[in-house]
Amino acid sequence: MKLKNKVAFITGGTSGIGLETAKLFRAEGAQVVIVGSNAERLAEAGKELGGEVLLVSADLRKVEDIEHAVEQARAAFGRIDIVFANAGASTVAPLEAITPAYVEENVALNFAGVLFTIQKTAPLVPKGGSIIVTTSFLNTVGKPGLSVLAATKAAARSLVRTLGAELAPRGIRVNAVSPGTIATPFYSKIGLTDAQLTEVAAALTEQVGLKRFGDPAEVAKAVLFLASNDSSYTTGVELVVDGGLTQF
Ligand SMILES: NC(=O)c1ccc[n+]([C@@H]2O[C@H](COP(=O)([O-])OP(=O)(O)OC[C@H]3O[C@@H](n4cnc5c(N)ncnc54)[C@H](OP(=O)(O)O)[C@@H]3O)[C@@H](O)[C@H]2O)c1
Repeated sequence: MKLKNKVAFITGGTSGIGLETAKLFRAEGAQVVIVGSNAERLAEAGKELGGEVLLVSADLRKVEDIEHAVEQARAAFGRIDIVFANAGASTVAPLEAITPAYVEENVALNFAGVLFTIQKTAPLVPKGGSIIVTTSFLNTVGKPGLSVLAATKAAARSLVRTLGAELAPRGIRVNAVSPGTIATPFYSKIGLTDAQLTEVAAALTEQVGLKRFGDPAEVAKAVLFLASNDSSYTTGVELVVDGGLTQF
């Protein structure tokens, strides 16, 4: 029970890495708030989590939605010990296909969404609290068609250092978890056909040292480490969970 009596606020908690983390946090004794934008997935995730979680609907591209979500968590629990700013999404766009609207959309969710999630939750985070941001292997290696997502993830990684420095005097730690290729619904939403996805997955698997996709539960365990007191002297870092993809 590493998170006994802790309150955790998890964005993107309705699917993939966020949902697995919500399950693990519950098992470790935390009270969990999950945030998502799709009402159906939110209800489904609530069921999967046994109904004992606060479900909050918000489009994290909108600051007012983030404020509303945080207010619901405050009204229910009065504080937030752990913030997992994890929600993210994108579609593949090679250089010639990128438009200002595409850039705006990506930045709004994958960078500003993270920044404002931290800004709005921070006042509720007590001394000893932990903030974790999901970055990506894409901020270390270049993969065609994902330039804007990769740039937002690199910006999020940078944010972890700066906000880590800003919040350290309050005894709040800020870290990132950087997943490699993890088997989640993420890939089904990036705008590739099934045939293209199979090809991309095979090519990526070849580049992973351990020669397989990771399981979201393997990322959740790293998030638990960063969320719990086990990492009490760790702040500003990015914990890489990628089977060696960015190392070998
Ligand atoms: N899977 C990988 O290989 C991989 C690799 C590197 C990094 N990551 C990062 O890991 C994080 C989690 O991704 P995942 O793989 O678990 O993907 P996922 O299963 O597709 O989950 C994405 C989550 O983000 C939420 N979300 C998306 N747009 C949102 C919006 N506008 N407002 C609120 N919530 C929104 C989704 O909820 P709704 O559907 O309800 O909107 C969902 O809960 C992302 O930041 C992703 O970039 C994943």
